[in-house]
Amino acid sequence: MKRKLIVVTALMFAMPLYAQADAVSELQADYQAKGAGPFSAAAGEALWNKPFKNAKSGKERNCTTCHTADLTQSGKHVRTGKVIEPMAPSVNPKRLTEVKKIKKWFVRNCKWTLGRECTAQEKGDLLAFLKNL
Ligand code: HEC
Repeated sequence: MKRKLIVVTALMFAMPLYAQADAVSELQADYQAKGAGPFSAAAGEALWNKPFKNAKSGKERNCTTCHTADLTQSGKHVRTGKVIEPMAPSVNPKRLTEVKKIKKWFVRNCKWTLGRECTAQEKGDLLAFLKNL
């Protein structure tokens, strides 16, 4: 009885890790099927920090504009002021666990920041960078 409880508890702790690996590898496999890869965390980090000049406002935008440069800290939405939970899965285990959520925010945030959607290669690189934080 006691041993069963220990096993169940251990599984509960292990699950978020599996979920993260699943969502990220599922998406990266999908990008690979589209011809992208191999993925580079260094390229992902460079893109994360790269400023893009917005055509309308003339101001520079990058991913850190809302998520801040230190991904273990909370960010702040540049327009609404709403707090954004830390991006690093090491401090926020809910991050990168849901394929649907990642897809949705990649579309929105790439369009807002880069002025276009990210390519499969860029998204794979970004995930390679973010998943190990
Ligand atoms: C205008 C503000 C803003 C900018 C700029 C921004 N994001 Fe976000 N991002 C958000 C918000 C808001 C959410 C959803 C709320 C949350 O998850 O905390 C989010 C969520 C995400 C998620 C979902 C993560 C998960 O699994 O929980 C990813 C991935 C992401 N952003 C990537 C990026 C990338 C890559 C860039 C740069 C190309 C970027 N973001 C730039 C505001 C922004």
